[in-house]
Amino acid sequence: MTVNLATRIGSVELPNPVMTASGTAGHSTELARHLDLASLGAVVTKSLHINPWAGNPAPRVHATAAGMINSVGLQGPGVQAWLDQELPALEATGARVVASIWGRTVEEFTQAAQVLAAAPPSVVAVEVNTSCPNLEDRTNLFAHSTEATSAVVAAAVAATGRPCWAKLSPNTPLLPDVADAAAQAGAQAVTVANTLLGMAIDPETRRPRLGAGRGGLSGPAIRPIAVRAVYDTFAVHPDLPIIGVGGIATGEDAVEFLLAGASAIQVGTATFANPRATQNVLNELTKWCTAHDINHLSELTGAAHD
Ligand code: DHB
Repeated sequence: MTVNLATRIGSVELPNPVMTASGTAGHSTELARHLDLASLGAVVTKSLHINPWAGNPAPRVHATAAGMINSVGLQGPGVQAWLDQELPALEATGARVVASIWGRTVEEFTQAAQVLAAAPPSVVAVEVNTSCPNLEDRTNLFAHSTEATSAVVAAAVAATGRPCWAKLSPNTPLLPDVADAAAQAGAQAVTVANTLLGMAIDPETRRPRLGAGRGGLSGPAIRPIAVRAVYDTFAVHPDLPIIGVGGIATGEDAVEFLLAGASAIQVGTATFANPRATQNVLNELTKWCTAHDINHLSELTGAAHD
């Protein structure tokens, strides 16, 4: 019996649950030399703004004990230039594409989502990044407020007319409430979670290691936090599809997130050590399911709650 890894995220059918995480696979075919992008569940782009955006000062990335800390600052070409210049090559690989968007205001999210209304069908969903930790006003993430999340998700859903997923923040105890607000506002799924706010300081220079000072911590160091965040979200919203993300580097890591309640997962930081990591996770997950007589992913999703 071959395992059927197909998964449904709201109205979006994916052949398998393994995607790249936003910000770790570029905007286009950066990883295509290393893996078959079409074999993945989907490729999620780095978040796009309505305008081109230069990002934060270097250094932007620093390796930590079990992961990394980054403050790229959402560098990108702008959503229209991405559609015109970057999406065609990505589409030509046969990949299903999830376009991630960000903004500093509801209006900027609306504008980015509006541009994506004209995207080709290869763009199967829009991931609304409500939780970037590297904006100037970190104290005011959309995903730290039910009202702000609701406003931004409703605006994106109305403007793009496509399935929207809300990428949420682990940096708030309100996570299950925020997930509820996102779902009520029309998100078909929630991506749980984004990076943890962190900082690293160089003892020699006495200065922060990152040009922007603070950054987002990712990788295996945060996996137990992300698993808990998925578990908590599923406990309150068992019918809301959850895409689990945070430190996944192996097929067994992916299984952990599925058991916590995820219907799909994303691989991010592992790609920086091995650009084939997402493909490896898919292969290992397939083997794990075969070895454990799993015929369908639904046998795993949320099973830790039974
Ligand atoms: C960036 C954005 C994110 O959403 C994140 O989690 C980490 C970094 C950025 O581009 O700075």
